[in-house]
Amino acid sequence: MKGINYRSYRHVEKLINFNDTSLRNYCEDKLKSCDEIIKFIKKKITKKNKNWDGKICEIGSGNGKLLYRLELDRLLSKGIGFEISRSRYQFSKEFSKLIDSKKIKIFNKDFLKSKLKKNTFDLIIGVDIIFNLISANSNSQQLQFLNLCRKYLKKNGVLLLEVMSYKNEIKLLKKKNSFTRTFYFRKSDPYKNVKAKYRLIDQNIYIKKIFSHRNGSNSFFSNLVKPIDYNFWSKLQEWNIEISKEWSSIIKSKENEYMVILRKK
Ligand SMILES: C[S@@+](CC[C@H](N)C(=O)[O-])C[C@H]1O[C@@H](n2cnc3c(N)ncnc32)[C@H](O)[C@@H]1O
Repeated sequence: MKGINYRSYRHVEKLINFNDTSLRNYCEDKLKSCDEIIKFIKKKITKKNKNWDGKICEIGSGNGKLLYRLELDRLLSKGIGFEISRSRYQFSKEFSKLIDSKKIKIFNKDFLKSKLKKNTFDLIIGVDIIFNLISANSNSQQLQFLNLCRKYLKKNGVLLLEVMSYKNEIKLLKKKNSFTRTFYFRKSDPYKNVKAKYRLIDQNIYIKKIFSHRNGSNSFFSNLVKPIDYNFWSKLQEWNIEISKEWSSIIKSKENEYMVILRKK
């Protein structure tokens, strides 16, 4: 299992699976999929910060959609992203050309090895289970992640994390060894669906996914996630914490995602 989350996404969003038209449609869909989080960031973060200067960092930025959307919506003056998957990083460079991005630089690098200036960012973002992934790697990585974010943020700067409690999954896994769920993708995605098999390994959940490509081929993916419940956050003294439990209903998700706004004291 060691290092599994460093390998999981290495073939995701390979450019070979796209042509010019499908790439454009896919990127348009991805930008649109950021509507709710953009509303959330405006309401909870930018409008509340009188000194907002638009310096944003995203950890596990994937194809870069959120950073690009923030640039298009003029919420960002300078953005940087960290993404360990080479294929996703390469995809993000094509995405950047499509929107003619001028303000964003994405690094194909482990955030935990980053060396940035302290007190730099107004906002650091970790959406879609990045905190569950890093926490599953080890407790020391989890702590290092939070310490680095605190160091890089300005005073009153915000670390915004989208986290999964995996409450329902744990309940099911206490009754049976494993279970499988199928998720379907939008038409613009080269993949039709993914079958995900869940298993409990110690305190973490091991998820093995089989992706069905529209051309009939399959590809495999697995990762390890640590469930993080609401109580976890009350232990953190150096931050002011706000939890948005209604997030999964806002994004119409059947899973137990929630948002955590951590403000640097
Ligand atoms: C669940 S995906 C989310 C991607 C993107 N934020 C989104 O919403 O589509 C998590 C991403 O984090 C990346 N990742 C995992 N650990 C990382 C690390 N230590 N540094 C940088 N990226 C990391 C993975 O390669 C993966 O692309």
